[in-house]
Amino acid sequence: MEKILITGGRVVTATDDWTGDVLVDGGKVAALGVKLEVEDARRIDASGKLVIPGGIDVHTHLDMPFGGSTSADDFESGTIAAAHGGTTSIIDFAIQYKGQTLRQGWEAWMQKAQGKATIDYGFHLIITDLPEALEPEMDSLVGEGVTSFKLFMAYRGVLMLDDGSIFRALLRTGENGGTVCMHAENGDVIDVLVRRALAAGHTAPKFHALTRPARAEAEATYRAICLAEMANVPLYFVHLSAAEALEKVTEARNRGLPVYAETCPQYLFLSYDNYEEPGFEGAKYVMSPPLRPKGNENHLWRGLAFDDLHAVSTDHCPFCMKEQKELGLGDFSKIPNGAPGIETRMSLLYDGGVRTGKISVNRFVELTSTSPAKIFGLFPKKGTIAPGTDADLVVFDPEREITLSAKTLHHRVDYTPYEGRRVKGAPDVVLSRGEVVVENGVANLRAGRGNFLKRSPR
Ligand code: URP
Ligand code: ZN
Ligand code: ZN
Repeated sequence: MEKILITGGRVVTATDDWTGDVLVDGGKVAALGVKLEVEDARRIDASGKLVIPGGIDVHTHLDMPFGGSTSADDFESGTIAAAHGGTTSIIDFAIQYKGQTLRQGWEAWMQKAQGKATIDYGFHLIITDLPEALEPEMDSLVGEGVTSFKLFMAYRGVLMLDDGSIFRALLRTGENGGTVCMHAENGDVIDVLVRRALAAGHTAPKFHALTRPARAEAEATYRAICLAEMANVPLYFVHLSAAEALEKVTEARNRGLPVYAETCPQYLFLSYDNYEEPGFEGAKYVMSPPLRPKGNENHLWRGLAFDDLHAVSTDHCPFCMKEQKELGLGDFSKIPNGAPGIETRMSLLYDGGVRTGKISVNRFVELTSTSPAKIFGLFPKKGTIAPGTDADLVVFDPEREITLSAKTLHHRVDYTPYEGRRVKGAPDVVLSRGEVVVENGVANLRAGRGNFLKRSPR
């Protein structure tokens, strides 16, 4: 493997910010310094650029059957898109279906990823059925590096768990060092609202949002916090969208509880207004939780800046408009839930967060890489730049302006929610374990080169 010397860049981690050189050797960061003298190394000039740890996206759904369809990116196309956007590790969601063991769920997703993933990948396991006899399997999965479990408080009959099962899962992760990732929405309330809306003839995409109130997210968030408090265990909320839910997280944290949460770019840059786009266009934004009214995003930015939100992940769950979202023409409840975003996260957050002064450049690194690495047992192998860490690095040009468009993005989806948006700040060169995998928009990614990430427990 060739030695690489990245020279003269502004090296930014969650805590540091200095200008100098990064030497990469054997897939690892070998040395940091100013004007390092190294022979026999390929040189990459990073002057005027940032050198940051590769992005870690801890919320993706590749090749996932959901809502009568399967997400449009598999582990090859999805990870290629991720790498183009400056993300070098993902944690995807495997699903244990009712009647299956937990291990069967994990193994099925390993089959999907192996031979396809082009960057490193780990798994959370979605538990949809937890008879007591399966609880010991949670311990063995934690021991094998699947250290987090996603539980749903919505989608009754499909993914939702009852409070008793949720409480037992929380108790178990309290003992085995795992982490519960919670999808917090009151599913039963939503189901009533959906049935009533359809009965009243309200079938358009916007009714997806109108039947999933912010209070249903806040109620479930608070209920989950209470369950975790009684189980005496940390808790992580996925895709937090509503200010009302964030308030519950902030309250809990102010009481000293170990409660963590992520939000996603769609909740920072889009709003309910998108559902009002003409015709069936609103289907592009059908995701759960839904986009919230304009102004809500200000609360999320504040949460990101003041550490009540701890990560920005994508919830990349892409469905094409053609043939997939179209399943819900005439019935919004049949539109597959989810939207693409795996490639656009870093540029959107840099442009909308750092350039506007809402978050510092260190915080940008922390939210996109370091903090998810710490929360999910990847740090310090991933998530920072220091001697001995994996050389997952991005030479990021803070001045390069790009226009986001489905035509130029690499995901296998026929739209992006950000079509036509101009953003400043984009990756020039991306390294994964010391290999240059993307350079000036050109990828050098082999299917199957990604490694499974065996993560450490808390
Ligand atoms: O709408 C969404 N978020 N789709 C993916 C599944 C989930 O709940 O994360
Ligand atoms: Zn979810
Ligand atoms: Zn998701």
